Amino acid sequence: MNFLLQNGRVIDPASGRDEVADVLILDGLLADLRPNIELSAERAATVEVMDVAGCWVVPGLVDMHVHLREPGEEYKETIASGTRAAVAGGYTAVACMPNTHPVNDNAAVTRFILDRAREQGACRVFPVGAISKGLTGENLAEFGELRAAGAVAVTDDGRPVMNSLLMRRALEYARAFDLLVISHAEDLNLSHGGLMNEGPVSTAQGLAGIPGSAEEVMVSRDLILAEWAKTRVHIAHVSTAGSVRLIREAKQRGVQVTAETAPHYFTLTDEALFGFDPVYKVNPPLRRPEDVAAVKEGLRDGTLDAIATDHAPHSMLEKDTEFEYAANGMIGLESAAPLILELVREGVLSTAEAIAKVTCHPANILGIPAGTLTIGQLVDLTVIDPEHEYTIDCTTFQSKSRNCPFHGRKVRGRIELTLAQGRKAFARS
Ligand code: DOR
Repeated sequence: MNFLLQNGRVIDPASGRDEVADVLILDGLLADLRPNIELSAERAATVEVMDVAGCWVVPGLVDMHVHLREPGEEYKETIASGTRAAVAGGYTAVACMPNTHPVNDNAAVTRFILDRAREQGACRVFPVGAISKGLTGENLAEFGELRAAGAVAVTDDGRPVMNSLLMRRALEYARAFDLLVISHAEDLNLSHGGLMNEGPVSTAQGLAGIPGSAEEVMVSRDLILAEWAKTRVHIAHVSTAGSVRLIREAKQRGVQVTAETAPHYFTLTDEALFGFDPVYKVNPPLRRPEDVAAVKEGLRDGTLDAIATDHAPHSMLEKDTEFEYAANGMIGLESAAPLILELVREGVLSTAEAIAKVTCHPANILGIPAGTLTIGQLVDLTVIDPEHEYTIDCTTFQSKSRNCPFHGRKVRGRIELTLAQGRKAFARS
């Protein structure tokens, strides 16, 4: 629980810090942060000293969108395995989606997740409750009860709230409980039957398409409702140029909107589907190159505040099947960091901007105490070697699932150490 990290480049966007310094952790608490910390001989005997020269020392990463699958689908992931995957990927706080079995639409499930995370989790878990009971889109869940039990936000993620009146009520009630509403923006009538992005590739493949407008129609609706009700709304997994434009324009008008995208929407296009490999099947689907460019531009100009993984584990049972029948989703926790660093090397984001999109920005959106290095607090911290080159090998992942579209990709930037709540949660051996 006592560590001295020497000579790392400490980057903490929330405080504007970017300097080579030492970081001292005593009893799990961040004790000191400055260049050349000297230890007395007596103290040194109790402290694990690590030279991290050449590495970045950043606040523990925050993923505001993961599926941990527990309760109910423990063969895909558990809170234990999902948080082990998180810390291996540099994350120390994850917000987990409510599409579990049973659905997290009540205090008992929220409490179960928090208890399990406390007992078995490798890092902090922040449960997200359902907007509608059973995710059926019919009746609102009890937001006050969910909030009191520890939910930080509500969403029907995996499904949209198709009923606009219910979404209006959700936004109004959520405001009363200071809960963030996260929108899975999809018009089910427009996406109905679609298996991939609608465009030349879906035509060539003979697969039914999901048009970008299926997302954009619902982004528009939720922006209108949030503006009208004077509430905030967060748009999940933004994938199209049109959505980026709509959110940008809404922000300019003063609508309280925040938005996230995921690494697969700025690194992969629908052309990946040419081989009919279900590992690339995800909802919303991989889009056209011009959408990828717009998502990057949205990240660059701040339209897209956060990068989340949408870590969506599935077993071979759901994925190793005909494309039509395969489940949507990709795992992401253990491959995200080097893909985000690609944005820095491409000049899309500065180093501090990239770190902010996975630390203080998502923490602020969720309203959770995370995403920055604070003296005197239990430390959540990640050490990244930005230059280490390697090939992603999902067979070595901590996640129980293997649906990783980046398996075999050559990347640069590796997680070396993760301290979660003062404990060594992951260390590269
Ligand atoms: O691809 C997806 N998978 N998109 C979602 O919205 C849900 C997720 C899941 O739960 O598997």
